[in-house]
Amino acid sequence: MNAEHRTTLVRPPARGTAGSATAVAYPNIALIKYWGKRDERLVLPVTDSLSMTLDIFPTTTRVRLDPGAEHDEVTLNGVPATGEAQRRVVAFLELVREQAGLPQRAVVDTGNTVPTGAGLASSASGFAALAVAAGAAYGLGLDATALSRLARRGSGSASRSVFGGFAIWHAGRDTGTATDADLSSYAEPVPAGELDPALVIAVVDAGPKAVSSREAMRRTVDTSPLYGPWAASSKEDLLGMRGALRRGDLDAMGEIAERNALGMHATMLAARPAVRYLSPATLTVLDSVLRLRRDGVPAYATMDAGPNVKVLCHRADADRVAAAVRGAAPGSSVHIAGPGQGARLLDERG
Ligand code: DP6
Repeated sequence: MNAEHRTTLVRPPARGTAGSATAVAYPNIALIKYWGKRDERLVLPVTDSLSMTLDIFPTTTRVRLDPGAEHDEVTLNGVPATGEAQRRVVAFLELVREQAGLPQRAVVDTGNTVPTGAGLASSASGFAALAVAAGAAYGLGLDATALSRLARRGSGSASRSVFGGFAIWHAGRDTGTATDADLSSYAEPVPAGELDPALVIAVVDAGPKAVSSREAMRRTVDTSPLYGPWAASSKEDLLGMRGALRRGDLDAMGEIAERNALGMHATMLAARPAVRYLSPATLTVLDSVLRLRRDGVPAYATMDAGPNVKVLCHRADADRVAAAVRGAAPGSSVHIAGPGQGARLLDERG
């Protein structure tokens, strides 16, 4: 893996309001999942999680302060944002204004290159880009750790997209004050050994999910009898994953990632009422991954809050894995991703 991917490329702006800033961020796919919050307002997770940031599907966001405006104006892919999407961005800007001590409203323009709300981590790249752009536009002068904490408040998984390569998001400590817990929950890069990994992404359905991940994880924590055991086993999975990463052992990484993801889906299936994101097409792709392994190709699957499948493999095997997956789910679109860079500011002068 390229050393560049291990470090954040965020350049903290100097303090002082820039007034306008543009940032780019990439989605990340968790190999050890975040599923469940212990504090909804602060977006504090129950467990630590670990992910790989991708080098495809970037989100680019521009934030411009508009001193004359009474409301924030949010545009998503050229269309004014409405409903929950608009509400979450405005709530996030409120946080930024509070930290900056500035009242100005903003114009936010976001371009996503990945379907929104389809379990393809658009909220991770979206809020990471928004944190970096808004942080700079409002002159917060945040370092990468503080940006990760800020991005977390928009969407938990966004805390990890601040960093490139592999990142761990620490659940943080509860020492009695909300501030301590807030400060101790952030992501940081994780060292990895010699690895040339790819994630083959099979989009079997690009439509928005029926139940948001926010609602689904709430229901799982509140009602699933399997949630506690999964959260406990996730601790061991994380330790194992860190060791496997350090050794550059893709087989161990894949085995752990696959069982962690299947366990997460089991907790949802046991929720009341059940949440089922996996579709017949998902299972067909999972069968093709099993066949690949039987044929000696190391390939391991992970699924998020949607039916789409991401297959971890060696970069050298990615074309073969992509062909197998495409053959199994003919209607799907298949993409190959490698480890990508952390969120960063773009030069607005072009
Ligand atoms: C299944 O980060 O989208 O992708 O914090 O409520 O915005 P909120 O949730 P979000 O959940 C991601 C869940 C997941 C697993 C993961 O990325 O770790």
